[in-house]
Amino acid sequence: MSFTRLLASVGDLVLDPSIVFSFDRTGFNRHKQSFIHSDLDVDMTGRVCAVTGANSGLGKATAKAFAQRGAEVWMLCRNQERAEKARDELVDETGNAQIHVAIVDVGDLDSVRSFIESWRVTAVDVLVHNAGVLPNQRTDSPQGIETTLSINLVGPLALTAGLNKRLQAGKKPRIIWVSSGGMYSQKLRLDHLETPPGKFDGVKAYARTKRAMVVASARLANELKHTGIAVHCMHPGWANTKGVRDSIPGFWKVTRMILRSPEEGADTIVWLGVNDQAHDQSGLFWFDRQPRSTHLLPGTQATQAARDEVWLRIHELAGISPLEWTKHNQQEST
Ligand SMILES: NC(=O)c1ccc[n+]([C@@H]2O[C@H](COP(=O)([O-])OP(=O)(O)OC[C@H]3O[C@@H](n4cnc5c(N)ncnc54)[C@H](OP(=O)(O)O)[C@@H]3O)[C@@H](O)[C@H]2O)c1
Repeated sequence: MSFTRLLASVGDLVLDPSIVFSFDRTGFNRHKQSFIHSDLDVDMTGRVCAVTGANSGLGKATAKAFAQRGAEVWMLCRNQERAEKARDELVDETGNAQIHVAIVDVGDLDSVRSFIESWRVTAVDVLVHNAGVLPNQRTDSPQGIETTLSINLVGPLALTAGLNKRLQAGKKPRIIWVSSGGMYSQKLRLDHLETPPGKFDGVKAYARTKRAMVVASARLANELKHTGIAVHCMHPGWANTKGVRDSIPGFWKVTRMILRSPEEGADTIVWLGVNDQAHDQSGLFWFDRQPRSTHLLPGTQATQAARDEVWLRIHELAGISPLEWTKHNQQEST
């Protein structure tokens, strides 16, 4: 081990528990001392990568990284104009003309269904659930699901189910869920997840959906383990994006000098998407290319019964069966 790496490891031990000096840019700079830079030297020609919310922030940085490596990239976005502008920029910056836009509002189940029906792609190698929101006021999706829950978890679950067969047709296929370190503050509770109690608190509602995402992705990994699809969940630390600036302006003002760049925030998404090393470690929660604990605070562990309850309810809300995940496999083997 080099001296710099040794120093970085000692720094991790001392500074990571502070959260701030882990999630911020200094944390990234320290953690990256143990990255293997050649991990990202992968030719992705022939691979199909779909990234939700790819017109901005981490999603755009992720789409760019895949495109730079020759992948066919699908930007799944809700707004045609913003998506096409971002696509044109990415085509210019990467020289890859195989970057496409498809319109889907992941918080609207009708939009998700019509995208699934109309999308002509038959095999997907990488699906990144990046789209996410932290609204300051409570609103509901067209199906009456609280918006944070609908966009961050229920819609993406329906999208995953709709693409299950196409993912199974992919090469070393993988699903990457973009959660948040904010989820550490919350314990999984179905009642609070579905109906945020009291005056609406967007930060808490957001963190609850991201906690539920961590739980659901681990369960999904287990359900899909015989299909060859790996399921990863990660959090990006704190990165300077439009989402952070607009949703939590107070936090952004105080921290903007120490926030990661969108590329640094997206690094672990890209690493999980590009590199096959984690493919055998489905179901884990990643940060800066390392599997991490899903609990940092006492009292945030949920019972198996609470996890089962949430698992069943999010399927009900998404209009899909929990048996969905084994369906295509069984069809193949009968
Ligand atoms: N930045 C951070 O520090 C940080 C920390 C923890 C977690 N995250 C997570 O990282 C992900 C990306 O966030 P970001 O920081 O890059 O924010 P961002 O710049 O606001 O990007 C969010 C993207 O999601 C899209 N989106 C939102 N609702 C959508 C919907 N219903 N259907 C389709 N696309 C939708 C947005 O599209 P529009 O442009 O059309 O709104 C935008 O492209 C989110 O899941 C966020 O929770 C970020």
